[in-house]
Amino acid sequence: MSVTSPSISARKTAAPSAKVDALVVGVSPGEKGVTLAPGAEDIDKAFGGKLAETLRALGAKGKAEEVTLVPSGGAVSATIVAAVGLGGGEPTTETLRRAGGAVVRRLTGRAESVAFALGDGEAAHLGALAEGALLGGYSFDRYRTQADKQPKAISSFTLVTGNARDKNVKAALARAEAVARAVNLTRDWVNTAPSDLYPAVFAEEAKAEGKRAGLKVEVLDKKALLAGGYGGIIGVGQGSEREPRLVRYSYRPSKAKRHLAFVGKGITFDTGGISLKPNEGMLTMKCDMAGAAAVLAAVTAIAELELPVAVDAWAPLAENMPSGSAQRPSDVLNIYGGKTVEVLNTDAEGRLVLADGMVRAAEEKPDILIDVATLTGACVVALGNRVFGIMGNDEEFSNKVRETAERAGETGWTLPIPEGTRERLDSKVADLANVASGRYGGALVAAAFLQDFVADGIRWAHLDIAGPAYNDSSPWGYTPVGGTGSSVRTLVGLAEAAVAGEL
Ligand code: BES
Ligand code: MN
Ligand code: ZN
Repeated sequence: MSVTSPSISARKTAAPSAKVDALVVGVSPGEKGVTLAPGAEDIDKAFGGKLAETLRALGAKGKAEEVTLVPSGGAVSATIVAAVGLGGGEPTTETLRRAGGAVVRRLTGRAESVAFALGDGEAAHLGALAEGALLGGYSFDRYRTQADKQPKAISSFTLVTGNARDKNVKAALARAEAVARAVNLTRDWVNTAPSDLYPAVFAEEAKAEGKRAGLKVEVLDKKALLAGGYGGIIGVGQGSEREPRLVRYSYRPSKAKRHLAFVGKGITFDTGGISLKPNEGMLTMKCDMAGAAAVLAAVTAIAELELPVAVDAWAPLAENMPSGSAQRPSDVLNIYGGKTVEVLNTDAEGRLVLADGMVRAAEEKPDILIDVATLTGACVVALGNRVFGIMGNDEEFSNKVRETAERAGETGWTLPIPEGTRERLDSKVADLANVASGRYGGALVAAAFLQDFVADGIRWAHLDIAGPAYNDSSPWGYTPVGGTGSSVRTLVGLAEAAVAGEL
């Protein structure tokens, strides 16, 4: 996957004379109508102090993510001045990320170079703006053959600030670039057609990305998985002509005080298998490898940022297909480590490949284990498509994951694994079954299944990203349609929290 990123830099320059196609200012609702946010002073002066008045006449209210375009008529060098709404109150980092994303989406196709004259110059604010711009500028063009019908992506972003040489500002921009690159890589992987991104191809691309980031990469092919006793990955993958893989990244910087392990569900396409899904249920199932993509991409960002924390990422990759060689409902699998699972529904396949991955991951004795998966439709019913579910074996840690997500601009919500849930998975023939009888609480049942494979003494959290991993409606803020890159920023945030001694 080749992610071509636009350039981004901070510069101490006079906004009115910036040689760019568009200049961005911020606006907020005020008592007498919309008011200009800090950063717009010079531009307003170039407009004879009438910029706010002009924006009011155009109907600008200053609501979050509202974008109003004004032709500059030569008042400033840029041909367009774009005013982006920040809503009321002091803008948070997430307000700025969304503003950056929304204005960049609107300017795509209208400008190729954009400068932001917005904010107080604080490093965290500039970083958030940069992140929003880089995420909002994302587009997936792999299958477009008519370039002239596609809006041209913005190629350069400039943040106008007097603090351009401040080392915190430089670090915030470098972080934004690494994080946005990882999120956009995840989006590319998710958006790629499943006929072009099956386990062997995904593993090859993951290897190339891992090497580029300086990681140690290991890939187990089908033969190695059979020899190693990875019964979950083999069972799910055996119905497909495309053989399964297990990818491992390891990042081992010196001076690491914590060791994190991430495991991501990597079903390159989920038909349901013999327990076949109806067509509507299958339409978005190329996103069923979003967890694997997120954990791999997050580690590339963590390595790029040289965070002093040890991290492993494990990505069990398989295609869930129905065929004469597919597993059947009532087959029994031997998960890595020896536990047996009766497969009562071949569409509950994610937990089977994750079980192998999680048991293997725990052998490396991490302090913390996090799995990320588009695991259940039930979680989407419960939380909708902007919020992921967080379940785990340590309440304090689950809450920490929720707070970290929020700080990163993602939303997760903790759900319980109630007493008695595991019993619903008791099997008549094996150690446990892969589904419970009855549909209630499906997200919690899936978590209870996974918990059975978590070694004692490891703090574990499970992120069910089935809702937010894929946006099949309209874009908003910096979130495009298609793959979103859900959870990447939370995982990077957790690595940073570990470095800060918070985990
Ligand atoms: N990949 C699906 C879950 C999913 C649903 C992801 C919607 C994204 C959007 C998963 O493998 C699945 O099929 N789960 C079943 C579990 C059931 C058989 C217990 C489900 O949710 O119906
Ligand atoms: Mn399924
Ligand atoms: Zn699935």
